[in-house]
Amino acid sequence: MINVRIVLAYSGGLDTSVILKLMQEKLGAEVITVTVDVGQKDDFEKIEEKAYKFGAVKHYYIDAKEEFAENYVCKAIKANALYENAYPLSTALARPLIVEKLVEVAKKEGAGIIAHGCTGKGNDQVRFNLGIKALMPEAEILQPVAEWNLTRDWEMEYAKKHGIPVSDKIYSIDENIWGRSIEGGVLEDPSIEPPEEVFEWTVSIEKAPDKPEYVTIGFENGVPVSLNGEKMKLLELILKLNEIAGKHGVGRIDHIEDRSVGIKSREVYEAPAAVTLIKAHQDLEKLTLTKWVIEFKSIVDSKWSWLVYNGLWYEPLRLALEGFIDEAEKAVNGEVTVKLWKGNAIVVGRKSDNALYDVKMATYEKFSTFDQKLAKGFIELFGMQSVLAYNMLHGVHSTSNISEIKEAIKTLE
Ligand code: ARG
Repeated sequence: MINVRIVLAYSGGLDTSVILKLMQEKLGAEVITVTVDVGQKDDFEKIEEKAYKFGAVKHYYIDAKEEFAENYVCKAIKANALYENAYPLSTALARPLIVEKLVEVAKKEGAGIIAHGCTGKGNDQVRFNLGIKALMPEAEILQPVAEWNLTRDWEMEYAKKHGIPVSDKIYSIDENIWGRSIEGGVLEDPSIEPPEEVFEWTVSIEKAPDKPEYVTIGFENGVPVSLNGEKMKLLELILKLNEIAGKHGVGRIDHIEDRSVGIKSREVYEAPAAVTLIKAHQDLEKLTLTKWVIEFKSIVDSKWSWLVYNGLWYEPLRLALEGFIDEAEKAVNGEVTVKLWKGNAIVVGRKSDNALYDVKMATYEKFSTFDQKLAKGFIELFGMQSVLAYNMLHGVHSTSNISEIKEAIKTLE
C-alpha cells in the first residue's frame, strides 16, 4: 500500500473522530490532526489526547486567536460586515485562517491530502475547498462526510465500535471569539422560538439586569483600540465586550439565511461584541465620513460580506474593496458610547476630532453661521429636472397669475 499522509482539520467531535479512524482503516493513511484555536471554548488537551487515542501520528494545536482578531475580525469591523444585514460572519471569517494553518502543516509534513469534516450541505465546504485550492492547488481534498455519504446513525454505530464517545448533543455549534453559531434540533423549525438552552454567551431579556450599563469604545482608523478609556488589543477588547454585552442579553440573532448552495436555513447566533462594535463603528462613520462615501461604502461593505460568506476570501475583488475601505477608514477616529440594556445596544453618544458635524451649521440658535439665504437657489437647481419632469408628465402648467405674484414678491425683498 502506498504511503498516504493526510492532514485533518480536527475538532475532537464525533464527525472528525470518525473520519480520523475511518481514513486509517479505509486508506491505510497516516493522519496528522490539526486543531486551530480561534477562541472556541474547548479543552484542547483533551482534544489532543483523543487525536492520539484514535490513531493520529501527530497532532498540532495552533493558537490563532490573536491573528484572527488582528487580520480577520479587524477587516470585518471596518466593513461593518453583516451578511444579509444580520450575521456578523463569525464562522465564515475563521475558515480562511484555519485553511491557512492546514496548508502550512500539510506543506511542512509533506502531506498531499487535506481532509475536513464538512457536510455537503453547508457553506463551510465551499470556504475550505476554495481556500485549499487557492493556497495549495496540488493538494487533494478529502471530504468524507459528503464523499462517503456518512449518516449520523452510521457514524454513531461506527463510533461505538471504535470507542469514540458519542454525546447526546442535539445542536451543532461552531464557536470563536467573534460569535457562536447554533444549528439543528428544534431550531430547524423556523416558527418556533429558540429555547433558552441553546444560548451560552447571552442572558435572556427577562433575566438581563434592569439597570443599563454604558461602554465607551475608542476607534483609530476604523479599528477599536480602547474600552472605557483603557487601551487594549482587539482580542482582549472583544473578549471583554462579549462578557459585558452578553450579560445584558445583547447579540442574539435569529436569522433566515441564504446559503451558498441555495438552501434557506434558520440560523441562531450569539455575538455580543460583534453586534455592539459594528453598531458603534457604523455610527462613528456617520459622524466622520461624507455622505457620498457612506452611500458608496454600504455597497462595498455588503459585497465584502457576500464574498466572505460565500468562501471567496481569495477573490481579488476582496482586496480591491479593502483598498477602498482602508482609504475611507482613515477618517474614522473617535469615541462612541453605547448603552447596553435588556438586549439592546443603543448608541447614545459619539465624538471625533474628524467630525463633519458642525454645531455652527446645524444649530437653530443665534450663533449659526449657515447662510439660510443660499438655500432657496440651491433648492431650485437641486430639484430642477425632477420638478420639470413632473410638470410635463402630469400636465401641470404655471399660470401667468403666479408669475405676477412672483414679481410682486421680488419687489418686497
Ligand atoms: N450559517 C453560518 C455560516 O455558514 C454558520 C454555520 C455554523 N456551523 C455550525 N456547525 N453551527 O457561516
